[in-house]
Amino acid sequence: KYSDKEKAVKKMTTIGDYKLLNTLGRGAFSKVKLAKDSTGKRYALKIMKSTPEKAKSKDFDMFYNEINSLKKMEHKNILKLHKYSDKEKAVKKDGSTINVAYIALEYAENGELFDYVAETGKFSDQEARYFYHQIIDALEYIHGQGYAHRDIKPENILLDENFNVKLADFGFATKDSICHTRKGTFGYMAPEVLANEDYNGQQEDLFSAAVILFILLTQHPPFIRAEPNDKYYKKIIKGKWDQFWDVHADMKFPDSFIDFFSKSISPDPKERLTLAQIKEHEWYNGPVATQQDIIKKFSERKLKLTPYQSNKDDTKDTKGRAKSSKANKKSRKYTNFLMVKDGDV
Ligand code: ADE
Repeated sequence: KYSDKEKAVKKMTTIGDYKLLNTLGRGAFSKVKLAKDSTGKRYALKIMKSTPEKAKSKDFDMFYNEINSLKKMEHKNILKLHKYSDKEKAVKKDGSTINVAYIALEYAENGELFDYVAETGKFSDQEARYFYHQIIDALEYIHGQGYAHRDIKPENILLDENFNVKLADFGFATKDSICHTRKGTFGYMAPEVLANEDYNGQQEDLFSAAVILFILLTQHPPFIRAEPNDKYYKKIIKGKWDQFWDVHADMKFPDSFIDFFSKSISPDPKERLTLAQIKEHEWYNGPVATQQDIIKKFSERKLKLTPYQSNKDDTKDTKGRAKSSKANKKSRKYTNFLMVKDGDV
C-alpha cells in the first residue's frame, strides 16, 4: 500500500529539534507534517528522504527551487519560510535514523481553501472577493519581485488562524519571463501553456487566479481544460453564456462579473486583463466581506470539514491506514468536484 518513499518517513518521530505530530498533506515528492520546535511553536515541515541518488533528482531541483524563491518573499499573504536543511537526521520510533531534507514553513492552521469550497459550498460574492483580493495582492508582490508562481490552485491557497490567505508551494516558481516547459495543473493552465507554446508565467498566474475565483463562486471549475475544443471553454470565449449556464449550473452572474471573468481568461494572453486592469475593474471593486464576517462564517464552515482536513494537532498519526482511506476519500471527492454536469451543448 505504501511506497518505499512513504515507509521511510512514516514512522519518524523527530527531525533535528522538531517533534513530529500529524500529517497535513502528501505531495508528489514529499510529505507535510505538523511539527513543534523546543519552544512549542508549530510549523509545517515539508519532508523528503535524502539519499545521494535523490540529491541529483528532479525532486531535489523542486526542493531547492522552492527554498530559493521563498527566501526572497516577505508578504502577509505568502507562507513564510522559517528554516530548511538538505541533510538532517530523522529519528524513527525504533531509534534508528535516516537522512532527510526538510523545509520548515509557517503553519497555516485553517488548512486549504480548496476544502472549504469543495466540502461546504460556494462562497458569496463578498466572501469570494475577500479571498480573491488577497490572492491578487500576493501575486502582485511575487510578480513585483520578478517571479511567477506557476501553480496557482485552491490546494495551494492556505488559510491562517484568521482565515487570511497564505499562498504556498513555490516548487514551480520561476524568474524566467518566457517559459518553455509546461508546469502546474491542467484545469488551471492557460491555453497557451496547454498548447505547449512559449508563455509568460505571470500571465498564467492571473489566468489561474480567475479559474479559482470562478470555483469559489460556483463550486465548479469553469471548464475541464482551457482548450479550443473544450465544450465549456468554447462557450465562454464565444460569449455564449446562456448556453454555458444551461449545461453548467443554474446560476446567473452580474454583467460586471461576466465582463471581468471573460477578459481574465481570454485565449489571447495579450487581450487579458493585466494586474493593474484587474484592480481597476468594476467587479473587483464591489463590496467585500469584513474580516469579522469571514472569521464568523468560516469558523462555522470549518466545523463541517472532515477531521483529516481540520488539522487537529492532538490526533497523532498512529493510524496510518485510517488516514490513507481518508486521503482516498479526498481524492475521490476531488474527481467529483472536477466533473462538470454533462448535457447537450
Ligand atoms: N499543508 C501543507 N502545508 C501546510 C501549512 N503550511 N500549514 C497547514 N497545512 C499545510
